[in-house]
Amino acid sequence: MLLIKNIGKIVQVREELTSVVKGSEMNHLPCINKGFLLLKDGKIADFGEEKDCQNKNIETIDAKGGYVFPAWCDSHTHLVFAGSREKEFEMRIKGFTYQEIAQQGGGILNSAKRLQGTDEETLYEQSLKRLYEVASMGTTAIEIKSGYGLTVESELKILRVIQRLKENTPFTIKSTFLGAHAIPLEYKENRQGYIDLIINEMLPNIAKEKLADYIDVFCEKVAFSVEETIQIMEAGAKYDLVPKIHTNQFNCMGGIQASVEHGALSVDHLEVLNDEEIESLKSSETMPCLLPSAPFFINDHFPPARKIIEAGLPVALATDYNPGSTPSGNMPFVLSLACIKMRMTPEEAINAATINGAKAMGLENSHGSISKGKDADFFITEAIPSIAYLPYSFGSRLIKDVYVKGIKL
Ligand code: NIG
Ligand code: FE
Repeated sequence: MLLIKNIGKIVQVREELTSVVKGSEMNHLPCINKGFLLLKDGKIADFGEEKDCQNKNIETIDAKGGYVFPAWCDSHTHLVFAGSREKEFEMRIKGFTYQEIAQQGGGILNSAKRLQGTDEETLYEQSLKRLYEVASMGTTAIEIKSGYGLTVESELKILRVIQRLKENTPFTIKSTFLGAHAIPLEYKENRQGYIDLIINEMLPNIAKEKLADYIDVFCEKVAFSVEETIQIMEAGAKYDLVPKIHTNQFNCMGGIQASVEHGALSVDHLEVLNDEEIESLKSSETMPCLLPSAPFFINDHFPPARKIIEAGLPVALATDYNPGSTPSGNMPFVLSLACIKMRMTPEEAINAATINGAKAMGLENSHGSISKGKDADFFITEAIPSIAYLPYSFGSRLIKDVYVKGIKL
C-alpha cells in the first residue's frame, strides 16, 4: 500500500464508471481539493479529502501541494519508426507542401525504406527510448501503429516490436495494423496487388501471431480510396479487428461515413469536416480523435473542435507521434495546442486526453480517470495555481513524478 498526501488537487475524479464525455459535459472536470490517494496492488484503492484520510502507519509520499492527474491516454501514435525526416522539414521551410513531398516519393515511403533496412533489435531500441520519453511527459497508455513496413516481413517486424514493448514495459499498449498506410512504389500501377497482399498475406500472419488489436487505413486522396478502405476494413473484420481510421486530414471524401458504417472505434485527424460528416458521427459510437500537433508541424489548418463539441459529440486528443507529420509525442503540448489553436477549454482538453483517449483505444475500464479499481497510472505536478496553468505554461516541464500501476517511473 502507498499513500499520497498533501495533494493540491486531484483532477478527473470519477466515482461512477464514465466511459466517454460528450458535448457540453466535456467542460465539466470533477476534482477534489486537498486530497489523498491510496494505492494497493497497482490499483487505485481509495481517494478523498485529506481531512477524511483514516490511513496511518503506511508508506506515505508528500505531493508537496502538486496536482494529481490521471496519466494521459495517447490513442494514436506511430512510435515504432526508423530514423528521422528532417530533410523534408527543411523542404517545407523552402515552400514545398507535405502532400507534394509525399507525391515525390518522400513521406511515408521514405520512412518505409529506412525501416526495411533496419533490424528488429535496432528498431526495438529506438522505440523503447521514445516510449520512456513520452512516459516522462505523463503518457502511460498508448496505441502504436505499424505502417512503415509495407512488406509482409517489415509490417510483421513492427508489430513484433510493439509486442515486445507490451511484454517488457509496465505501460498499457494497444497495437494497430496499418499496412494500408501508402502504396509501395512497386505497386504504383497495381494498387489491387498491394491490397491483396494486405488481405491474403499480412492479415492471416498477423492474426496467427495475435499481433494486432485494431486495423487502420489511411483513407485520403494521396493514399487509399473509400472503396479500398472498405475492402480492408471488411477483411480485418474477419479477424475481429475493429477499425480506427485515418481520414479527413486533407479531403472530405466519405471516409467518415464508411468508418461509421463499419463500426470504427475512432476516426482520426478531421482537419477538414463537413456538416454531413458531423451528422453521421452523431448517430454512432465512433470517437472523433484530433491530432493538433500534425497541422502545427506541417503548417496546415486545425480541426474544428468547437463545431464537433457543440454538435454534442465527444473529442479525443492524441499526438500522432511519427517521423513525418509529428515528430513529437508530447501530450502536454497537444493540450496547449488544443486550447490555443482549437479553442478547447482546459477542462475539455483534459477530458479529451484522458477519459476519451482511453475510450478511443478500448481502455475505458482501466484508464483515463482517478476511480477506484482502475490502474494506478497518474502523475504528480509541481505545485501549480490552477488546472488551466498546465496548458497555459506550454513548453514548461510541470510533470514531476509519473506512476505506472502504482510504481514510480
Ligand atoms: O497520421 N497521415 C498518415 N500518417 C501519418 C504521417 C505519416 C508520415 O508522414 O510519415 C499521420 O500524419
Ligand atoms: Fe497518424
